[in-house]
Amino acid sequence: THVVTESCIRCKYTDCVDVCPVDCFREGPNFLTIDPDECIDCAVCIPECPVNAILPEEDVPADQQQFIALNAELSKKWPSITKRKEALPDAEEWKNRTGKLPELKK
Ligand code: F3S
Repeated sequence: THVVTESCIRCKYTDCVDVCPVDCFREGPNFLTIDPDECIDCAVCIPECPVNAILPEEDVPADQQQFIALNAELSKKWPSITKRKEALPDAEEWKNRTGKLPELKK
């Protein structure tokens, strides 16, 4: 599966959802997830994300391993998103920050 990682938090550019052939993205208040039960590993979403938040599971770095479980868990409760929309208003301010996990709204 593919995994949405920390860079997405408080940005949510949503360019990724337009290209997904199986509509596997789920939307929370300030983050998106990929439902691991739906993702077919096509990888077309990877270059669409302006902050490089999407990674194949095997490439998720050690300090972001918790995002694998978070994608699976939050995908079960969040609704599907299939069309691009405006990024969050503070996206530009947050896009280069790290340590954003405490900002994740579930
Ligand atoms: Fe998030 Fe990047 Fe998609 S910021 S919403 S993973 S385009």
